Amino acid sequence: MSWNRKHLLDIQSLSPLEILAVLDTAKAFKAVGERAIKKVPALRGKTVVNLFIEPSTRTRISFELAAMRLTADVINFTAEASSLKKGESLKDTARNLEALNADIFIIRHSATGAPHFLSRFLKGSVINAGDGAHEHPTQALLDTFTIREHKGRIEGLNVTILGDILYSRVARSNIWALTKLGAKVTLCGPSTLVPKVFEQMGCTVTYDVDAAIANADVINLLRIQHERQKKAMFPSIGEYSSLFGLSKARFARTKKDVLIMHPGPINRGVEINSEVADCDRSVILEQVTNGLAVRMAVLFLVNGGKGPQEVAH
Ligand code: CP
Repeated sequence: MSWNRKHLLDIQSLSPLEILAVLDTAKAFKAVGERAIKKVPALRGKTVVNLFIEPSTRTRISFELAAMRLTADVINFTAEASSLKKGESLKDTARNLEALNADIFIIRHSATGAPHFLSRFLKGSVINAGDGAHEHPTQALLDTFTIREHKGRIEGLNVTILGDILYSRVARSNIWALTKLGAKVTLCGPSTLVPKVFEQMGCTVTYDVDAAIANADVINLLRIQHERQKKAMFPSIGEYSSLFGLSKARFARTKKDVLIMHPGPINRGVEINSEVADCDRSVILEQVTNGLAVRMAVLFLVNGGKGPQEVAH
């Protein structure tokens, strides 16, 4: 078993064996989730804080349910209803939560490095649930888990990530995870949103969407991250959709066993045609299901869990 970390802050610093340790542990937790009684006492007596300073549907709910399935007590903290609105700093907020003897802090924040900052002074474990455009490690782990479940491997697969790469923490975490496990990653989108500098992460960059999807085993679509863009990065949504969206015509030219993925939230008719999003090669909702098992695994491991063999009991 190759996990000996107190925090999960990013994928960049993980070894391939650490990534595989999470995936294998998640496999065991997925089996737990298919039983009549879906709860295990792995975090009994522990307190988990969901510290979400930026909006979320999937990640927040998934972490909350994961902590409950592990029998932890859960505090859901949202910025809008907190004393952050009265000028309290993130550090003071976190230290007050720690004063209630919280054990694990899950943080989403618009600022890159917010989880790393908290990990420097909190005594508990810190899990990054998305920091700015930097990383979203559990999203990459659940994406990798879903690909491995369908394809049986990661090594040697052609994975295309199509869309707004520049502002995407999902893209960065996926690139780290997939390249560390031996996939060939191609990035595609408008040149303003897919700078060539990403090649330094070991990817291929292309602006030819048909070439990018023709030989892909997996196509991961990303939405335009309007909330992080400071200026217009392309002329119009209509033009983006026509040049880079996964239309039915483009989908018809993909491999017959291609997996269609999207981290959500989807903008139907923009980056992906609505029927393609719901077709039988789409695993978008499976990604959500697998996110629960992956987040149970991460909570279990940062709390000192030793391995999948311990999960079942
Ligand atoms: N995939 C993802 O992070 O979705 P949310 O923003 O809804 O958590």
